[in-house]
Amino acid sequence: MATSRWPGDRLLFGGDLNPEQWGPETLEQDIEAMQVAGFTFATVGVFGWALLEPRPGTYEFAWLDRVVDRLHAAGIVVDLATATASPPPWFGRLHPEAMPVDRQGLRLSHGSRQTWCPSSPDYRRRALQLVERLADRYGDHPGLALWHVGNEFGCHNLMCFCDRSAEHFRQWLRDRYVDLEGLNEAWGTTFWSQRYGEWVDVLPPRATTAIPNPSAELDWRRFCSDAHLEHYLAERDLLHRICPDTPVTTNFMVGFSFTGLDYHRWAPEQDIVSNDHYLGHHLPHAHTELAMSADITRGLAGGEPWILMEHSPSAVNWQPVNLAKEPGQMARDAMSHVARGADVVGYFQWRASTAGAEKYHSAMLGHAGTGSRVFAEATELGAVLRRCAPVAGSRTEAKAALVYDWPSLWSTDAEATPTQEHRYTDEVRAWYDALWRAGATCDGVGPEDDLSGYSLLVLPSLHVVSERTAAAVAAAAQAGAQVVITYFSGTVDERDHIRLGGYPGAFTDLLGVRMEEFAPLWVGQVATLGTGGSPRVPALHDETGRIWTERGHAETGTEVVASFADGPSTGSPAVTRRQTGSGAAWYVATRLSERGLDALVAHLVGEADLDTGWPERPVGVDVVRRRSGQQTWTFVIDHAGAGARVPLAGTDLVSERHCGPTEPLALAPGGVAVIHSVTGRNGE
Ligand code: GAL
Repeated sequence: MATSRWPGDRLLFGGDLNPEQWGPETLEQDIEAMQVAGFTFATVGVFGWALLEPRPGTYEFAWLDRVVDRLHAAGIVVDLATATASPPPWFGRLHPEAMPVDRQGLRLSHGSRQTWCPSSPDYRRRALQLVERLADRYGDHPGLALWHVGNEFGCHNLMCFCDRSAEHFRQWLRDRYVDLEGLNEAWGTTFWSQRYGEWVDVLPPRATTAIPNPSAELDWRRFCSDAHLEHYLAERDLLHRICPDTPVTTNFMVGFSFTGLDYHRWAPEQDIVSNDHYLGHHLPHAHTELAMSADITRGLAGGEPWILMEHSPSAVNWQPVNLAKEPGQMARDAMSHVARGADVVGYFQWRASTAGAEKYHSAMLGHAGTGSRVFAEATELGAVLRRCAPVAGSRTEAKAALVYDWPSLWSTDAEATPTQEHRYTDEVRAWYDALWRAGATCDGVGPEDDLSGYSLLVLPSLHVVSERTAAAVAAAAQAGAQVVITYFSGTVDERDHIRLGGYPGAFTDLLGVRMEEFAPLWVGQVATLGTGGSPRVPALHDETGRIWTERGHAETGTEVVASFADGPSTGSPAVTRRQTGSGAAWYVATRLSERGLDALVAHLVGEADLDTGWPERPVGVDVVRRRSGQQTWTFVIDHAGAGARVPLAGTDLVSERHCGPTEPLALAPGGVAVIHSVTGRNGE
């Protein structure tokens, strides 16, 4: 594996360049304008297969040679795509069986992008032939900095239900369960007469009459993620063999718009983790969803710096209403990612297309040209990133962690659960947002990651839990963490089988609660919280819960911090706390109101002794620190639009001014500051 740390001693600024959409003279104009904007990297060739191999086995590299040479000569490093994301139209004609089949059995045609079956041997063979050619040709090019395998794996072809996929799925199941007895047991097939006697009868979960087998569905989701990963690894291994010194990545999509791959299995296979993030205009507080995506990406990168491969300069084109970014938002969004560990700030795309499905997508260089607001803001951002060069390689500091898990998402969002009103991501975001409002920076980690060393550990609806994770969570509490576990957690094992003996299954002993029955609330109904006897968080009393309640009791030695005062679970505990070792394990049996969450999180932040910026930090002002040795960079970003007086000591790399408690920095409404300080100086 390539080990060189990339991108080195500066922050890179750039994005997707699609020169194949333009003539050669445009490339020269592009490079000139990129230099004005301060672009230092470009991703090229993502959708280049049809031009690189216009006919099967006939390759044309001259256009790409020029692009790579010209970028290199201009000092812009190249992230070269393997171009395998979208095969040309001839591929479907030659290999019709490699076109994906949907759940209803409909075989899809080319005409959009990413039209291939992840289990197709023909796709694999053709893709690797192209990758080998590219690696041979560009592997030694001095402008090549990074390989970019495919693009956003699974974005459009996550699942294929064809016969070849069925065979591949059966092989995957054999590897996992060895024989049919193991499979039947894991899938609970005695239920509804689903028992398998022959492997050939085991199929992908194609369209069926009623609720499908949930254990089979969960394994299918895992398989789909692994099938794409298998293809990624084939390309990556080939690249490593031919160009052992060039790092390899593929762009993840951690965020609201895609939940199809288990990136905890993908991340260890990346030389450097990269992510694409787009704002969801329909989401309340889209900027905190951005922050959560970045915090999870940093968790995937093991705390190391990562690449923001794509985000949008302004509007996208694929949502029902595509809002243009507000003035100043480009910097706020980009710096929110940098604060959370991105060392590379990438955009889709450099120059706006005039034809094709994305012609209304914003670009750094939009249809209006360089005289636009977006281009001016891009140029300003380029200059700020240059001044922030020393931030590269530093690590974001977080004493809190939030556990995020794809199998729990897939399993809780399935059919036939206690309430379809519960969506995993909503519960996770409710907690993340409360932590964000409180100013507690948190790592987004996986259940199998190292959970030790955090002062606050939050597990929102962590539904699918292994024995190992249950033990690690208990150990974290024992060692001093405030551990918070919310409803529907610990309920099933990895096979999606219920853990017996009361809810929340894997965590009942740690929490000292034993719930007997889920009692969800009707749409719009709320349950009021009353005192549970413990005066620990009085602000919770009279607050409300939505979506979920539970009937059960707390064991002796467990404090009932709040109980349900009305609704279907009147008298049962709603929020509990149990001292364990030098920490505590908390249970929250409902979706707390925003105010309730804020009250509880404020209390937890106090018990965990977390740094939240400064005492009078206005809500909506994001404060995140990156550190390296004795140096600290404190990112202060005003999302509330009211500005702030920042009493921190240091030098703001954005305004290039000194500041400190006696001369606080006046952060403009919607502004960004990056305050550099060195321990032992600037009053620290
Ligand atoms: C990404 C993709 C880009 C472009 C962009 C538009 O999902 O990687 O190629 O389509 O979205 O927002």
